[in-house]
Amino acid sequence: MNINISKNIKYVGVNDNTIDLFENQYKVPNGISYNSYIIIDEKVAIMDTVDERKTNKWLHNVENILTKYKVKPKYLIVSHVEPDHSSSIPALLRKYPNIILVGNSQTFKFIEQFYNLNISENSKIIVKDGDTLSLGKHVLHFLSAPMVHWPEVQFTYEETEKVLFSADTFGKFGKIGSKENWTDEARRYYINIVGKYGIQVQNILKKVLKFDIKKICPLHGEILDSNLNKYINLYNNWSTYTPEKENVLIIYGCLHNNTEKVAIELNNILKEQGKKTKLINVMKHDFHDIIAKCFENKTIVFAASSYNTGVFPMMDFLLRQLVSKNFQNRRIAFIENGTWAPSATKTMKEILEPCKNLEYIEPNITIKSSANKETLIELKELANNL
Ligand code: FEO
Repeated sequence: MNINISKNIKYVGVNDNTIDLFENQYKVPNGISYNSYIIIDEKVAIMDTVDERKTNKWLHNVENILTKYKVKPKYLIVSHVEPDHSSSIPALLRKYPNIILVGNSQTFKFIEQFYNLNISENSKIIVKDGDTLSLGKHVLHFLSAPMVHWPEVQFTYEETEKVLFSADTFGKFGKIGSKENWTDEARRYYINIVGKYGIQVQNILKKVLKFDIKKICPLHGEILDSNLNKYINLYNNWSTYTPEKENVLIIYGCLHNNTEKVAIELNNILKEQGKKTKLINVMKHDFHDIIAKCFENKTIVFAASSYNTGVFPMMDFLLRQLVSKNFQNRRIAFIENGTWAPSATKTMKEILEPCKNLEYIEPNITIKSSANKETLIELKELANNL
C-alpha cells in the first residue's frame, strides 16, 4: 500500500483480507488493517508491529523503507501489547537484535507474558505519562491511556509534524481502501471493543486535545488527516454515551413470528407518524452491529417471547452485553409475548437494572400468543409516547 503520511513518516502496515472473525468474534467482511509506521530521523523509530498472521509482509515493508532511506531502526515504540500489534515483536528482534523497545512497565510485563521475552535493561526504555524522547528533529510525547483498550496502552504525539499515534482509538474494522462507511465501522469497532471504558476515553481525549493535531495515525483503518473535529466529536458522543440520533430502534426476538408481526405493526405506525425507525430481528442481523446501533440511537423497543420463565435467549444475551458495555442514557420500551406465563418484560427489566439513566416508556405491552384488538390500541398509545 502506498499511503502518504509525510516526507519522514512512512506507513508500513498491512491489510488482512484472510481473517473472517477479528478477535475470533467480530465479523470483518472487508478484512482489517494492522497499522505500523516508521519515523525517519537521526534515530529511526518503528511505531508498533502487526499481527503474526502478516509478519513476513510487514517485515518486507519495513525493510523496503529502511533500505530506501539507508537507515537502521533504533527504537520500536510499543503502543499496545494486544497480539494484533505485538505478535511480530519476536521476529523483529531476531532480525534487528539491537533495537531498543520503548514502553511502560506494564508493556514489558505483558511482552514477557505473551512471548516469554525478558527484554534486557540495555534493550528497553521504560517511559511514564508525559515523558518525551527525541529522535533528532522529531520529538515523541508519551501519553498513557490506561484501559483504552488495555491497561498498558499509550498514545504518542509527535510534536514536529503534529501527528498523533492513537493506538486502537480512532480505528475501525475494514482493510484500508475498503468502501464501507467510516462512522458505522468505527462505531461497531469502538462500542464493542472499548465501549465499556468511556471515562478512560474521556481522560485521554482531554490529554491529547491540549496538543495541536494535524493527523491521527491509529492502529487500524484509515489515517485521518482532515476534518478531525468530526472524528473527535463522534468519540466524545460515544465515550459519554450520548445518542447520535433521535431514531427509534425496534429489536425483536421470537419463536413463531407473532411477536415479529407486532414489531412490524409498531414500525408501520411510527413511520405513519413520520418518525425514523429501524426494525431488527435479533437472530438475523450482525450481533455486534445491533450493539453499536443501540448506542447510536436514542429510543429502543425490545420485543421478545418469554422463554423458560425468562426471555428469548438471544435477547437475553444482547441485553447482558449492553450492560457490560455501560449502556445508559436511553429511552426504552418493552413488548413481551407469553402464552401461559409471560416473563420476558420482567426479565429484560431486571437485566437492565444496573444501567444508569434509562427512561422507560409505557405502556408495557403483553401479547398472549398473538395480537388482538387491544394490542393495536396499546401499540398506538406506545407509538404516541415514543
Ligand atoms: Fe487492535 Fe486492542 O488491539
